[in-house]
Amino acid sequence: MLMGGLIMERLSGKVALVTGAARGQGRAHAIRLASEGADIIAFDSCSAFKSTNYDPSTLADLEETAKLVEAQGRRVIWRQLDARDFPAVKDLVEEGTRELGRLDVVVLNHGICHYGYTWEVTEENWDEVISVNLTSVWKVLKAVVPFMREQGEGGSIIITSSVAGVRGNPFLAPYVCSKHALVGLTKTLANELGQNRIRVNTVLPGGVMTPMAGFDWNGEKGESNPFAGELNKPEIAATLGPIFMNALPDKWIEPDDVANTVAFLASDESKFITGTEIPVDLGSTAR
Ligand SMILES: NC(=O)c1ccc[n+]([C@@H]2O[C@H](COP(=O)([O-])OP(=O)(O)OC[C@H]3O[C@@H](n4cnc5c(N)ncnc54)[C@H](O)[C@@H]3O)[C@@H](O)[C@H]2O)c1
Repeated sequence: MLMGGLIMERLSGKVALVTGAARGQGRAHAIRLASEGADIIAFDSCSAFKSTNYDPSTLADLEETAKLVEAQGRRVIWRQLDARDFPAVKDLVEEGTRELGRLDVVVLNHGICHYGYTWEVTEENWDEVISVNLTSVWKVLKAVVPFMREQGEGGSIIITSSVAGVRGNPFLAPYVCSKHALVGLTKTLANELGQNRIRVNTVLPGGVMTPMAGFDWNGEKGESNPFAGELNKPEIAATLGPIFMNALPDKWIEPDDVANTVAFLASDESKFITGTEIPVDLGSTAR
């Protein structure tokens, strides 16, 4: 961060774990936290999901994130693994903390998105979204929290929910349920970890220009939402359209916009903020 010509390294000497780090917001968070002085532990499954209709990230994407972290002059320990695999997550946390010496910041960013009317979602898709977006977030917490408590120096956990974590977005039932649950999980954990000075907050992004939302690396928009056309139907637009409107006159935000908030929550500038959800959503939840 550049302030008055001085480089501010708010996370000097800290170590941060970022999940879903191969691309999109996770990559932006890893680079941003590294630019603020943190060494990084990163992972991503880099594999396809049955419930998604956008391209999966690749091992090459994750390798590129690791290179971009190193380009910030920071160390990185990274691995391809699925957050649903608790032993593998625990193993990486053990390796990362052994190599880098500590763990101060955890950014639980990974997630998947599935579209469908609630009654048409298959059991398989329901289970996959809930297990990735909710249960595996809990698994990563289960792997990192004992280490952070034992370290005894506080810390900051940031969980990526969504505007769909506080609102009933249509066509997204398992996603909405998982993201609402993350808001609750954040509050419970913030209460449990307050005495350890470990803060727990969630960010609620609006539409972000990533592959999940159909964007490619050049910022070109394809369509990953098969229900987008529905919103052009006058009867649907009149009733459901306002749910997707923003207060600011823009439609999309960039991964770096979310990374700015994540870096703030990771830093001591937010030392008295815990148990809360922070929208980065162009004002959409204010409507
Ligand atoms: N893009 C949006 O419009 C938007 C809006 C609100 C919230 N979000 C949330 O932001 C987060 C980041 O999404 P993004 O927009 O960068 O999407 P993305 O698809 O570009 O990146 C998500 C990354 O998470 C990884 N991942 C998914 N499940 C995983 C698992 N089980 N284990 C390890 N890695 C896994 C994917 O492989 C992918 O690389 C997600 O939690 C998403 O739900 C996105």
